[in-house]
Amino acid sequence: MPARLRCAVIGTGAAGLEHLRSLASCHHAAVVAIAEIDPKRSKEAVDLLKIHRSYTDYRELLEQPDIDAVTIALPNHLHARVAVEALQARKHVFLETPMATHAKAAAKIFETAKKMRCVLMVGQGFRFNRHTQAAKEILDRGLIGEVYHARCFFLRRSAIPRLGSWSTQKEFAAGGCVCDLGVQMLDAGLHLLGDFDVKSVSGQVYSKLGPRASGNGERGKSAVNSAPVFDVEDYGAALVKLRTGRTVILEASWAAFHAPSSREYGVDLFGTTGGLSLYPARLFREGAQGYEVIELAPQKLAHSEDALHHFVSCVVQGKKPLIPLEESLKVQQIIDAIYASAASGKEFFLK
Ligand SMILES: NC(=O)c1ccc[n+]([C@@H]2O[C@H](COP(=O)([O-])OP(=O)(O)OC[C@H]3O[C@@H](n4cnc5c(N)ncnc54)[C@H](O)[C@@H]3O)[C@@H](O)[C@H]2O)c1
Repeated sequence: MPARLRCAVIGTGAAGLEHLRSLASCHHAAVVAIAEIDPKRSKEAVDLLKIHRSYTDYRELLEQPDIDAVTIALPNHLHARVAVEALQARKHVFLETPMATHAKAAAKIFETAKKMRCVLMVGQGFRFNRHTQAAKEILDRGLIGEVYHARCFFLRRSAIPRLGSWSTQKEFAAGGCVCDLGVQMLDAGLHLLGDFDVKSVSGQVYSKLGPRASGNGERGKSAVNSAPVFDVEDYGAALVKLRTGRTVILEASWAAFHAPSSREYGVDLFGTTGGLSLYPARLFREGAQGYEVIELAPQKLAHSEDALHHFVSCVVQGKKPLIPLEESLKVQQIIDAIYASAASGKEFFLK
């Protein structure tokens, strides 16, 4: 392995540009190439970091022997195909969320990574947030007793992606805000509980504001067609029951009329001797003077804040990423279960 991990970014839209910025700030990585089909976006990325090699066909990039790892920031329907091909080409892979458009495809990526003995990490980025890490430490020390419930939410007020972009179309995205935003908070909540053993899921999804909105342009700049199709959800809710008897409630929205003063995203954990609320991290408990609210001031840890830096160091140092792939796969299974439950109107039981 060379001193710096030679990385390439596939798909240089909003997330891909973030990958490039992150890799550029990583001492152990060098960005050597990108793959992007949109010439405007390709130029933007190349200019940003003065990258010398850009490909329009990602397969050509995967054939290059001097690329050790790729990050994949493509529309969701391309995740599984490109990740599997990249792993088969013996590239280590950092993959954006959601892992795939369904659990079967996610499992294929997982199996390919194991077979090819390559590092595969899914960008479940909230685990690298220092507030999550501080809360996790408190939970692991048992400071709020037995934790029996988590409330996870990511409720944007006005963030419908542009119509005509892949994000609003089931064919390309698989789902809307649940697999875009919900996936992140669900992972954070289950990670904090330290429990991914899900028994059943009851979900409901709505498409109320999306079809009539024009999209605010912040997300979904890449047009895939000019059709004003919105056939994914703009709000979703789920009750997730764990085999231990614990519960998780998940809520996600791209747009919803809810109080401007309330948090946009967070995880709240209820324990028998205290509670935790993120983001930011606060601890609640009964103190000598009554109910105490303690604002945590988490320190940055070595592996805080940047999932991609962690991925690079895992490859370079031959370590396993902090996100077990079984947990990435489980998150995908739960997302699938939310949609299955919403479609059937019944509680969905996981195997
Ligand atoms: N934007 C975010 O903040 C964010 C956050 C978390 C996860 N993600 C995930 O990142 C992924 C990308 O999202 P985005 O918001 O960056 O989308 P985007 O539309 O901005 O970017 C996708 C890019 O992929 C390019 N592309 C499409 N097909 C290609 C191909 N065959 N070869 C090469 N390039 C191709 C598009 O031209 C576009 O530039 C999605 O899976 C999304 O869920 C994004």
